[in-house]
Amino acid sequence: MLQWLMNLDVQRAVALSAVALVIRVLSRKYWTSIRDIPGPFFASFSGLWRVYHLGKGHIEQEILNLHKKHGHFVRIADNEVSLSHPDAVKQLLHANIEKGTFYSVFSLPDYRYVNQMSELDPVRHIQKTRSLSAGFSLSNISKTEPYIDNVLRLFKAQFDKLCDSGAPVEFQNWFSFFAFDVLGEVTFSKSFGFVQSGTDIRHAIANTGSLVYYISIMGNYIWFHNLTLGNPLFSRLGLQPNSHIFDTCLLAVDNRKNNPEVRHDMMQRWLDVRSSHPDRLSENDIFGAAVANIGAGAETVSATAQAVIYYLLRQPKLMKRAQSEIDAAQSGGELSPLIQYSEAAKLPFLQACLKEAYRFHPGVSHNLPRVVPKGGITIAGRYFPEGVILSVNPWVIHRDPDIFGKDSDIYNPYRWLQGETKRMDSFLIHWGAGYNQCPGRNLAQFELSKVLATVLRDYDVEQIEPQKDWKFETRFLAVPYGWPCRIRRRQNI
Ligand code: HEM
Repeated sequence: MLQWLMNLDVQRAVALSAVALVIRVLSRKYWTSIRDIPGPFFASFSGLWRVYHLGKGHIEQEILNLHKKHGHFVRIADNEVSLSHPDAVKQLLHANIEKGTFYSVFSLPDYRYVNQMSELDPVRHIQKTRSLSAGFSLSNISKTEPYIDNVLRLFKAQFDKLCDSGAPVEFQNWFSFFAFDVLGEVTFSKSFGFVQSGTDIRHAIANTGSLVYYISIMGNYIWFHNLTLGNPLFSRLGLQPNSHIFDTCLLAVDNRKNNPEVRHDMMQRWLDVRSSHPDRLSENDIFGAAVANIGAGAETVSATAQAVIYYLLRQPKLMKRAQSEIDAAQSGGELSPLIQYSEAAKLPFLQACLKEAYRFHPGVSHNLPRVVPKGGITIAGRYFPEGVILSVNPWVIHRDPDIFGKDSDIYNPYRWLQGETKRMDSFLIHWGAGYNQCPGRNLAQFELSKVLATVLRDYDVEQIEPQKDWKFETRFLAVPYGWPCRIRRRQNI
């Protein structure tokens, strides 16, 4: 009898759960103002569609295909619509509206540490950005050029050794090593030593890969993240995938305190703001900004640098043109042994190749979510009420033929050298746009110009298996790998 009753209860519980689930699915799918917007079936009521494609690795392409199929509006979650209309760039990214809760996952090491990336409120965000801006200005970055040159010198020495040994060159590693060390010099007055050791010290790069995977998934389940790995309890126990970035930064800050050669680096500029206006920047803000630099400023640079070399290799005529331009500047005495930013900036074809890499392979290829503010918003004739999440993916915008031309699916640096480029410029959103735009863009442009001009001037690069494509998976970032090359010193310099 008891057994019979228990079975009955279990059956009832199962039936009730099934009914509750169906109600939840139906209400998510239909009880919303965006129910008419097309998109994948599973996305309309659960995050599983996104998680599945993040796992598969090419959500950027999937969303692009969905826009090709359905038009400017695609429902990619129960409360989120991806927009591909050009107006969305202006009305969402350039506007001072709140970011989606997705960004809270960037609070490192736990939800108490709100940095620029994880600050959702535009007013507080803008205040923070202003207080930190001195560290990122081009004039201050330029003052650090001799220290960036120290990293470049070591990088060249390592590449010379690779020429001698004939060992395969994994650009994904070397460009990451370079970018990490530049960040160390610029932020903390000391490189991390990646280039010198030629290794992924403390598995920082491998861990960053796992971290962005975690971020791209957990950003969609922020309540779960805050209960578990984003919880201060877990951070104290060092159980998070992001704790290595925090540790790397703690170590750098500690080393900086004992470094007699510490300079007026980025950290010092922030400390200066704090000493004159303690209300504007807290110690946690400064630390959070340093952590954000380390998390945001290495793999993005590596992805872009790799894209330039890889796509030039894919079209040898472009490689020839880029190298001829550099050779001409070299024989005209316009390039120093360690190429200066001001020199590299005067190489128009190289700069066009870089710009095209920003467009064709944006380092951040994830949808950038914003929350519709009070009063709602109308974009491209469609009204969205308050609270709906609208997002724009740089990859999708950058492949729009109406903006970038019929050949938008091809890497073609010439598009930046012919005629009027103003309209294309205004839709180039590899740095994001508006108040949330990448603060590290001056540094990135600076170091990329130098390192790319150096590699192209001093080495011939050959992919070991040219018939094979590189690989990359888009999590929050799209960092390529798996295209080993050999390099030779160039004879004509
Ligand atoms: C080619 C290299 C880079 C690319 C493509 C890139 C791209 C981006 C993008 C798209 C965003 C904004 C994302 C959004 O709207 O959600 C961003 C934010 C950010 N980036 Fe970069 N970035 C690069 C290099 C750097 C470097 C070198 C640094 C550090 C010096 C850096 C530091 C940051 C920080 C701190 C944020 C958060 C800013 C905020 O939310 O206000 N980035 N980056």
